[in-house]
Amino acid sequence: MTDRLKPLTPAILTLDDKTYTLPTYIGIEGEKAIDISKLRSQTGYVTLDEGYGNTGACESAITYIDGEKGILRYRGYPIEELAEHSRFVEVAYLLLYGELPTVEQLQHFSTALNDSSIIHEDMHHFFNGFPRGSHPMGILATMVASLSTFYPVFDRLDEASEIQIVANLVSQVRTIAAFSYKKSIGEPLVYPSHTLSYVRNFLNMMFASPVRDYQLDDDIVRAIDMLLILHADHEQNCSTSSVRTAGSSMANVYAVISAGISALWGPRHGGANQEVIKMLEQIHAEGGDGTEFINEAKNKYSSKRLMGFGHRVYKNYDPRATVLKKHCDILLNKPGIKDPLLDIARRIEEVALNDDYFISRKLYPNVDFYSGLILRAAGIPTNMFTVLFAIGRMPGWLAHWREMIHGERVAIYRPRQIYVGESIRHYRDIKDRT
Ligand code: ACO
Repeated sequence: MTDRLKPLTPAILTLDDKTYTLPTYIGIEGEKAIDISKLRSQTGYVTLDEGYGNTGACESAITYIDGEKGILRYRGYPIEELAEHSRFVEVAYLLLYGELPTVEQLQHFSTALNDSSIIHEDMHHFFNGFPRGSHPMGILATMVASLSTFYPVFDRLDEASEIQIVANLVSQVRTIAAFSYKKSIGEPLVYPSHTLSYVRNFLNMMFASPVRDYQLDDDIVRAIDMLLILHADHEQNCSTSSVRTAGSSMANVYAVISAGISALWGPRHGGANQEVIKMLEQIHAEGGDGTEFINEAKNKYSSKRLMGFGHRVYKNYDPRATVLKKHCDILLNKPGIKDPLLDIARRIEEVALNDDYFISRKLYPNVDFYSGLILRAAGIPTNMFTVLFAIGRMPGWLAHWREMIHGERVAIYRPRQIYVGESIRHYRDIKDRT
């Protein structure tokens, strides 16, 4: 424990007629925890917490969430203020280094991102090896892991090499993402340009071609930048926990981040943004108003869920969804980009928020409910949505990796289990088996 946790009155636990004292702590926002790190050695018991819903796996000073009140802050700054006033590169710096940058620090950081934006030329051949139609998340996870072979990481990281790793990953994730899209549509790769800002550069690599300049729309650039800010960190979510788990073995950082990308891909996590649009498209194609889909999602015998609804931590409106909904309304009211799916989304939200099933389970729209509509308006193909999430989450993953490796002690992540399989039995020769 660090001294950032303040001790409270210890908890008393009675087990098998014995009494044990367990230390308890309080964090700076009033979150309370029981320290069970010595529980097994003292009592022989472990805790059982499937899905880790009640497990504080680490101390962290990066992001604060109060799921009951719908609060999200990066390094103390409310997400609403950052989404309104800041830019993604500035927020990335904040998450990584703890403070909003000065003009000079931001300049240095932006220059490092620019200088690191090109991936090694030999890596271009890799894109040819993937079959047409490969999911871009599969390509992204593979390509990010393969960065480890081009940019070796030494056992003892010094400050300069750590800055280089961060710049490589924050910058090159965008280049790899755009290249994988270009390959999938059979167009030549467009290189990053030092004249363009982070998001403009990405959109230009995605949509420019030798026969067609890409006209960057300021509202779309702003909306994508804001979307990346909203996705930049979310404390110990599934992909970040994967990064911390893989990172705790002191594996190569590129492989560690690739583990995070793979975890993000799933439809219950970052893959939900793609699934929301599939769901809205299906409802639109069938000509319904969503009632049938909602009823199926409520049926406990169906595997369907209302995508973009519910969250492990938020038991109130996801504050990111509030910001996104507002921007969706602005962007989709622009001439030429009206989307019929927005009306369906609004109706589903209204019905679900008034339905006992969703009310009693505290299921509200999450960040993914509206993000897909913004990405569609920007012309991003549906199978690239989760890739955009990964670009946004990169500074968060790296901030957690840095926080972990600079911690006082890096304990390898290694939960216990309760074994429920066969008890001991003895080997039988194959001819004796029935
Ligand atoms: N639609 C219908 N029912 C739901 C939904 C949903 N979207 N989400 C939860 N439920 C129900 C469950 O069936 C369960 O009902 P029961 O108590 O009758 O068995 C109850 O609500 C609790 O659900 P859990 O799965 O236990 O809740 P958990 O906190 O583990 O799951 C999760 C959170 C995975 C996000 C879930 O709400 C879900 O699958 N949502 C849809 C996918 C989605 O939008 N994911 C994106 C999350 S945001 C992010 O990762 C960036």
